Amino acid sequence: MNLLPFGLAVAALVLTPFSLAQTAPAATPPMGWNSWNHFAGHVTDADVRSAADQLVSTGMRNAGYVYVNLDDTWQGKRDAQGILHPNDRFPDMKALADYVHSRGLKFGLYSSPGAKTCDGYEGSLGHEQQDAQTYAGWGVDFLKYDLCSFQDQMRQAKEQHPDDPRLEFRMMQAAFKKMGDALKATGRPIVYSLCQYGIDDPWKFGPGVQSEMWRTTDDISDSYARMMEIAYAQVGLAKFAGPGHWNDPDMLEVGNGGMKPSEYRVHMSLWALLAAPLLAGNDLSKMTPDDKAILMNRDVIAIDQDALGKQAERVWQQGDFSLWRKPLTGGRYAVGLVNNSWSERDIPLNLAEIGFPSGANVYDVWAGKDLGRWTGPQSLTMPGHTVQLWIFKQ
Ligand code: GLA
Repeated sequence: MNLLPFGLAVAALVLTPFSLAQTAPAATPPMGWNSWNHFAGHVTDADVRSAADQLVSTGMRNAGYVYVNLDDTWQGKRDAQGILHPNDRFPDMKALADYVHSRGLKFGLYSSPGAKTCDGYEGSLGHEQQDAQTYAGWGVDFLKYDLCSFQDQMRQAKEQHPDDPRLEFRMMQAAFKKMGDALKATGRPIVYSLCQYGIDDPWKFGPGVQSEMWRTTDDISDSYARMMEIAYAQVGLAKFAGPGHWNDPDMLEVGNGGMKPSEYRVHMSLWALLAAPLLAGNDLSKMTPDDKAILMNRDVIAIDQDALGKQAERVWQQGDFSLWRKPLTGGRYAVGLVNNSWSERDIPLNLAEIGFPSGANVYDVWAGKDLGRWTGPQSLTMPGHTVQLWIFKQ
């Protein structure tokens, strides 16, 4: 059988930014860029405009990265009516949102259910409806809502009611629901992204508080070990992901310089297999050819964005090797094999474990190459910290 058509079909499945916009919010995992991993607390209006420009000029937007998300530290003070205004680094938030929209992109913001954000800026506590209305008025399309100092409220309540072990959980859930309801009440489709580091299984209560995605762990860093630790923490969560509701293993670090290209390929492959939101977190003005090739590989993005919306299960873990499998449309499977050791190793691969006892047609995603039909046991040699990512089909 000629495998070319199914290889090409993988590429053809990439959704355009505009088709994403027309369906329900987050029908596929949201894709875009977030200011935090690179700019952290120094981000300015000019940085966000430049990121929007770069998303267009690099081809990232057309590859699917449509959200431009301004993270923590944009907030200024509330006025006498309680309306929150941005700080001096953001002279006119509506104008910024308009600019982002004019580039064919969507605009995201960040807040907290607490009095203060994680970086000590103004949070939404007691102003949820008002803030939701403000965001909608500016044209916000995405809100990341970060637990941060709301944990102080939870701790205080626990001290006062030590006999009620679930009080903190109920408070947290109610706080997230308050903003979820307030966003929905604006009538504007705003993707609602929970950030509470996986406390008390957000994959179980997220949909009930109107959230489309929720962080499953504490923060990522630009380190291979931390990235793998987060990937392993996703095991068992696949059943909670699907169109409109996604597990979020945190933003991408590709391009931030802390990993080798081969390690960033592991990162990108795992995030695609996990149907993770793909929020780039690098300086888009300084992308190397490797960064671009990794972030914009159409086949990898198509795996992440596959309309079935399934998250990969880890089929097995054997020492440093792990095998992951994500069902795709058309009876296909994305299969990833990771060598997490430092050194080159040989690894046997039994096709029956992948669900193909009588063999499969195999497409090598990173090589962009059909490998023909595989039957019987396979033996692979893989350098340390590398991934093999394939599409399997009968
Ligand atoms: C927390 C979040 C990060 C980022 C910072 C901002 O640590 O998990 O993703 O938003 O806050 O202060």
